[in-house]
Amino acid sequence: MSFTIVEQAPARLNRSEQAVPGSNTRFLEKAAAGNADVVFLDLEDAVAPSEKEQARKNIIQALHDLDWSGKTVSIRINGLDTHYMYRDVVDILEACVDKVDLIMIPKAGTASDIYALDMLVTQIEQAKGWTKRVGFEMIIETALGMQNVHEIAAASKRNESLHFGVADYAASTKARTVNIGGPNPNYGVLTDTLETGNRDFHWGDMWHYAIARMVVAARANGLRPIDGPFGDFSDAEGYKAQARRAAILGCEGKWAIHPSQVDLANDLFSPSEKDVAQAQAILDAMEEAQRSGKGAVTLNGKLIDIASIKQAEVMVKTAEQIKA
Ligand code: GLV
Ligand code: MG
Repeated sequence: MSFTIVEQAPARLNRSEQAVPGSNTRFLEKAAAGNADVVFLDLEDAVAPSEKEQARKNIIQALHDLDWSGKTVSIRINGLDTHYMYRDVVDILEACVDKVDLIMIPKAGTASDIYALDMLVTQIEQAKGWTKRVGFEMIIETALGMQNVHEIAAASKRNESLHFGVADYAASTKARTVNIGGPNPNYGVLTDTLETGNRDFHWGDMWHYAIARMVVAARANGLRPIDGPFGDFSDAEGYKAQARRAAILGCEGKWAIHPSQVDLANDLFSPSEKDVAQAQAILDAMEEAQRSGKGAVTLNGKLIDIASIKQAEVMVKTAEQIKA
């Protein structure tokens, strides 16, 4: 291990992160009664400029009147380049800080963005004498944010998670697509004819680099990496495929931009009974190995060693967190 110990953000279930526009009171009510691990009440891109103020009021009302217990509540504020942002933070925190767990910072571009917001939130907390510390989740969704993702991840003790905002990221990098996430038929390779005599077209995952890079920045700073939206909410199989590949790369959850995606995410980001049983078998076998002074053994025809213990512990710990 390095002499540098990575401090972990407070543990929270973050399998599903549901987006709920603050401008729609019916959606707010439904989300409070739903199954999402985290809900983010949106003041940014799902809310038209003419509705921003009313959306803020709706959110304050909903935080006071509805029962959000069992959920983590986040507020997606407007970007730091807009004049809406400071009122989003001041009005909502002053009215109901005890109901807000996280602030979601969209289009995080530099570590200074996080620093500035940390200062504002710290001042509000101090002025009010609050001891509860609101956490931050940052959306990495611009070329600038991706360039500075490591510094952003390390910018504040409030930081808890990084999110891949695929739609804005595509716009910012000028990717040739108008979809919100998902594969693209033009991103692939044509195989050569050497082995089979045929040429096949293999689709690739055009978001692989961005997600993998975000995962590294998040994990190196003790944060949760979360995959962002999948716009085609009528395509459950497509959503599941995207969520699965994000989980395999290390993400802990995925956004749900439609209520139908919440259960899909909760299910996909929960390790299966089979996975947990296999992880437990590894832990048992390694305990036995260590008792007899061995660092590596064979389990079901495969080598396992001390690194396997760490992998298995992640799986077992996640399962315990879900059960709790
Ligand atoms: C999310 O905000 C995105 O732009 O995908
Ligand atoms: Mg966005």
